[in-house]
Amino acid sequence: MWKIEEQVARRASKEAGAILIRLFGRTHRIVKKGDIDLVTEADISAEEKILEILRGSFPKDTILSEEKGMEGTSPNRTWLVDPLDGTTNFAHGFPFFAVSIALEVAGKGVLGVVFNPYTKEYFQAIDGEGAFLNGTPLRVSRIHDMGDALLATGFPYTIRQDPGPIVDDLKKMVVIAQGVRRPGSAAIDLCYLAAGIVDGFWERGLKPWDTAAGAVIVKEAGGIITDFEGRPYSPYADSIIAANPFIHPSMLTVLRPG
Ligand code: IPD
Ligand code: CA
Ligand code: CA
Repeated sequence: MWKIEEQVARRASKEAGAILIRLFGRTHRIVKKGDIDLVTEADISAEEKILEILRGSFPKDTILSEEKGMEGTSPNRTWLVDPLDGTTNFAHGFPFFAVSIALEVAGKGVLGVVFNPYTKEYFQAIDGEGAFLNGTPLRVSRIHDMGDALLATGFPYTIRQDPGPIVDDLKKMVVIAQGVRRPGSAAIDLCYLAAGIVDGFWERGLKPWDTAAGAVIVKEAGGIITDFEGRPYSPYADSIIAANPFIHPSMLTVLRPG
């Protein structure tokens, strides 16, 4: 199922990716949405291209995209689009960013695609059909101990307003994991988990378009995803723990409030 949708999402992610690569490393018009929250012309142009392609093929579907917000009224099919995940990286010339597109049908994530145009890595998963990187099947790692685990995380743009809980989480994790990285693109962080490169990922304050595609890819690669309370994943939740099945319980124990 969802093969046509995957083909369209792939085309949209690749065309948007080509726009990002054309603009990468050039001087940009940068607008600040908040103190540290940027939007560049690349976010806008890539988003326009994705929306044009999705609307062309699925005019009745609702689309929720980062810069344009919600368009359409179909209650049943919603595309969740991040045209450039890793904007801060992109704006500084740090080559780690991606296009992320997911499809939710009747509230369930059924398709996720994440394209890193710099490395040309195309991650994709359809519900029940496995996760793939450029056609090769993906599986999460089998690391059992936190002491052997490489973890990824990120910090929300609201960190200046309320740094306490974010810094506390990090303090707890850095002393028990083998290593912690802050790569700067939640969508790719989740794909790296699916690929067994990192063993766990956590973050507070992510938005639906940051995680929706990566979450389908992680689940299809055998990963577990909840929020900090242990509730099943929702793209609308305000915290996420994604990990291989062996270390997810330990991460939940560390991050669970109270
Ligand atoms: C951000 C990235 C980053 C994460 C931030 C996100 P953006 O998305 O995914 O890794 O730590 O919380 O907002 O703004 O670059 O699309
Ligand atoms: Ca994002
Ligand atoms: Ca973005």
